[in-house]
Amino acid sequence: MANKSAGLAKFLRAPSLPPVRSGTAVVTGATSGIGELVARELVERGFKVIGTSRSPQKDQVNGIEMRQLDLGNPASIEAFADSIEGPVAVLVNNAGESQSGPVEELPLDALQRLMQVNFTGHVDLTQRLLPAMRAAGRGRIIMVGSMLGSFPLAYRGSYAASKAAIKAIAIALRREVRRFGIGVSVVEPGAINTGISLRRTKYIKSDGPYSAEFDTMITNLDANEAKGISTQGLVAELFKAIDDKRPSAFYAAGSSAPVAFSAQRALPLEIMQNLVHRKHGL
Ligand SMILES: NC(=O)c1ccc[n+]([C@@H]2O[C@H](COP(=O)([O-])OP(=O)(O)OC[C@H]3O[C@@H](n4cnc5c(N)ncnc54)[C@H](OP(=O)(O)O)[C@@H]3O)[C@@H](O)[C@H]2O)c1
Repeated sequence: MANKSAGLAKFLRAPSLPPVRSGTAVVTGATSGIGELVARELVERGFKVIGTSRSPQKDQVNGIEMRQLDLGNPASIEAFADSIEGPVAVLVNNAGESQSGPVEELPLDALQRLMQVNFTGHVDLTQRLLPAMRAAGRGRIIMVGSMLGSFPLAYRGSYAASKAAIKAIAIALRREVRRFGIGVSVVEPGAINTGISLRRTKYIKSDGPYSAEFDTMITNLDANEAKGISTQGLVAELFKAIDDKRPSAFYAAGSSAPVAFSAQRALPLEIMQNLVHRKHGL
């Protein structure tokens, strides 16, 4: 009987993992928004923090050691991974491109770049850092996805697909590495007021058939982000994946995440999709 209930508890709960309170932390995309704040908080907590940028302006910023990394360039990923000494305790795969455009008009090279930056590049970096993490027998890997990975939206198809892909592979990786003491979690931000709207790439023909609806969606998206939750709110949620003894597979904050995920479980898909699109003026 005792064996049976121990087996049930194991089935129902996330596994207990070794704590990660010190060592080296790597945060990709540490020059602004979520990555910058996560990196600063890790410095506060006494980690040796390596942050990345495609073009670092200084070697050190606020105690963060800055190194060059372009996730769109496999050679840059290899050079960066080779520069890391010893095992990484915390890896935050945060850097990303926010792309938009109707599927019909997305240039194939832009789509491939996005998948490389938001998906393949993170997997490549993780693969390179994992052997030392396994040998150390502890670590936390956080993939920063997006709620659009769970709630795809018109004119954000490529971005939603890249975030759905990182979520799926993270869940698989989580099961593969937990016996080595390594936790893997996906953090899905909703609308977070980081200014990412200003950095979004857009592919739209101004005289094409999608332009009016695209503009409506972008206007609503930008407005949602401007009144989104603070970066601090999201980062507090992300730190649960580092601090929790039994980190969950999944964390989300912003865009009324608890309500949205409950509604997704309760409502028919068609209604849910209509609600998501209505929120963006469509
Ligand atoms: N803000 C939101 O509402 C929101 C919502 C859902 C998901 N997210 C996700 O959260 C993550 C952070 O978003 P954020 O709002 O903090 O964005 P952000 O302020 O624009 O920061 C993006 C970071 O990624 C880096 N980066 C961009 N392209 C890169 C590339 N090709 N290779 C390496 N680094 C690159 C940038 O650094 P450099 O320019 O210095 O290279 C920057 O530090 C992203 O993955 C984003 O998709 C954000």
